[in-house]
Amino acid sequence: MKLVYEKSEPGRRASSLPRPALPASEVPEELRRMSPPRLPEISEPELVRHFTALADRTFGVDTGFYPLGSCTMKHNPRVNERVVNLPGFRDLHPLQEEDASQGALELMWRLQEILGEIVALPAVSLQPAAGSQGELTGLLLMRAYFADRGEGDRRREVVIPDTAHGTNPASVTMAGYELVGVKTDPRGNVDLDDLRGKVGSQTAGLMLTNPSTLGLFDEGIEEITRIFHQAGALMYYDGANLNAICGISRPGDFGFDIVHFNLHKTFSQPHGGGGPGGGPIAVRERLEPYLPVPAVVRDGGTFRLDYERPKTIGKVRGFCGPFGVFVRSYAYIRSFGPALREMSEVAVLNANYLLARLKDGYEAPFDRLCMHEFVLSGRRLKREHGVTTLDVAKRLMDYGFHPPTIYFPLIVPEALMIEPTETEAKETLDAFAEAMLEIAREAAEQPELLREAPHVRPVKRLDEVRAAKRPVVRYRFEQHDDPHGTGEPRQLEAQKGA
Ligand SMILES: Cc1ncc(COP(=O)(O)O)c(C=O)c1O
Repeated sequence: MKLVYEKSEPGRRASSLPRPALPASEVPEELRRMSPPRLPEISEPELVRHFTALADRTFGVDTGFYPLGSCTMKHNPRVNERVVNLPGFRDLHPLQEEDASQGALELMWRLQEILGEIVALPAVSLQPAAGSQGELTGLLLMRAYFADRGEGDRRREVVIPDTAHGTNPASVTMAGYELVGVKTDPRGNVDLDDLRGKVGSQTAGLMLTNPSTLGLFDEGIEEITRIFHQAGALMYYDGANLNAICGISRPGDFGFDIVHFNLHKTFSQPHGGGGPGGGPIAVRERLEPYLPVPAVVRDGGTFRLDYERPKTIGKVRGFCGPFGVFVRSYAYIRSFGPALREMSEVAVLNANYLLARLKDGYEAPFDRLCMHEFVLSGRRLKREHGVTTLDVAKRLMDYGFHPPTIYFPLIVPEALMIEPTETEAKETLDAFAEAMLEIAREAAEQPELLREAPHVRPVKRLDEVRAAKRPVVRYRFEQHDDPHGTGEPRQLEAQKGA
């Protein structure tokens, strides 16, 4: 497909507007440009077709099933967009006085209350803008808490299982802690023997994702809590996978002190490519004094921002955080009402249904009921047919599905991590399962078909590392002639009625 610059024809315009009968402003000569900017010159129909063709090439959750494990690409109800576009929310300036923004403050306060209830922890800050920022904020609270108790120099370590999402070790390091890894046992739980040897008076805390990135609820959770509480350490719950447990079990009830939410994963929000997102944190009473400011508080019937928190770690995000995300998440939660657990029950049911359909075609490394996602291994296809998980993922694109997350978590060889979410119908799950099983058959009968996939997508196999490290995101004018480089006045051409 040609770039819009390559479609450009000198003098062509998308529309023509009458010239205003106003005097042209005088631009000082030294500031005047010597030649016209090299903008694409194109008619409106061609312009519309160009961007529509680009949009058609894009795959999103609105175009098809997107079972990207750990990323929770669920349908974003359109009613949320209506709500977030209500003028009172959309046009509100973040510096608006409190008495003129009571509705927005009330929404944030109510969202805090609901989130606190979901995880059984009393104090919530909505400020962090992503799960990873929630992690960092939680760890900074941990540091502030121990520093206040005079234990900051002694408690230098944070324990993390080897299945953790990459942001966990990164946050630990950014917060200035030392990382202590703990192994996973053959059932997919934290290896308790390994753990016992690693926790002591030097430990500041644990960072646990539950359900884990294997899609498993840790069966030793009570014992884990005992080990950390005995050592006087804090327990951090990476709640990015809360989609599996809302209304069913609550981290605060089983001993955790800090939880972060991924609003954009659990409570719907268009996201991807790093944003937009929301990563609120909820904490136990003893950590509340350190939470970021401002806090959104209620005084009788009114709501206000409270900056009077002498022990606060400060601000972690501009104003009160990503407000549009709050509105969508609040709308999503309220659409379930008291039946929020149905969201998690269906997410878990959908994942188990797919697991049951796929575990014979692929290998299931942990033979247990899964939570909202599960991990398969393509090890057998590789061993028997020389076909890799990457080949399976690329072939899925020919069948019209976004591939699942692959090669993560790292402890499962040739991993495929699948998360269907609660918003998908059984027919979609069946179509996906049939495609996956067909691909497993193709691997045995026509392995070349997989190795050369995708066959019907506009781009084939990319050098993904190079694309990520050295993306070409601008037109290199210096490598192309300027078609109107003469500086001569041009005849402008625009279709009428545009
Ligand atoms: C388990 C887990 N923890 C943390 C994160 C980080 O969240 P974010 O991408 O919003 O920074 C994710 C993201 O998907 C995750 O799955």
